[in-house]
Amino acid sequence: MTQDEMKKAAGWAALDFVKPGSIVGVGTGSTVNYFIDALETMKDDIEGAVSSSVASTERLEKIGIKVFDANEVGSLDVYVDGADEINANNEMIKGGGAALTREKIVAAIAKEFICIVDHTKRVDVLGEFPLPVEVIPMARSYVGRELVKLGGDPCYREGVVTDNGNIIIDVHSLKITDAKELEDKINAIAGVVTVGLFANRGADAVILGTPEGIKKY
Ligand code: A5P
Repeated sequence: MTQDEMKKAAGWAALDFVKPGSIVGVGTGSTVNYFIDALETMKDDIEGAVSSSVASTERLEKIGIKVFDANEVGSLDVYVDGADEINANNEMIKGGGAALTREKIVAAIAKEFICIVDHTKRVDVLGEFPLPVEVIPMARSYVGRELVKLGGDPCYREGVVTDNGNIIIDVHSLKITDAKELEDKINAIAGVVTVGLFANRGADAVILGTPEGIKKY
């Protein structure tokens, strides 16, 4: 099974978590794109979706799924999204696609976060994948210096502007042993909009695509 086939299997398996009549939280990325393909088969059974990015919104609307503003809905039953890394505690690094802020907002309003990943995303220690941080542009240098103090090696993601008009700093060389603490520390830096650590609000369930098939836990 290729990595893409494992992503596809995980994306389609997430359909089991979608309740008829509900508004579904939809994340961003290549694995979620397979979930959106799967969701098309239920488009007449669901009320619609709340999306975490312009890219996913366009994809959802193209197949006829109504996309609601997060302010129009109360809480969501489920949010389905991918991750760049996930550990045994279901803590994640996200934001490889620069959609981390909206992803965190949709995750916050969802009762259940279903993470869909292929097995290459499972790690013992988070941090091999550079940690994305969304930053207000005028704070770029200051935030970079503060991230160095935390032991990271910050790198400005050239040419990327987020859906919210901000920049992304990717932090290399981190070995994240206490993800909740690091999430709190980076969130507290002035100028940081969002850190791509999803630890205080991790995944509630994981659908893992493996060469042997889907594993759910
Ligand atoms: C988007 O900003 C990310 O958080 C994605 O969820 C993450 O990059 C996973 O993407 P893939 O499914 O494309 O690997």
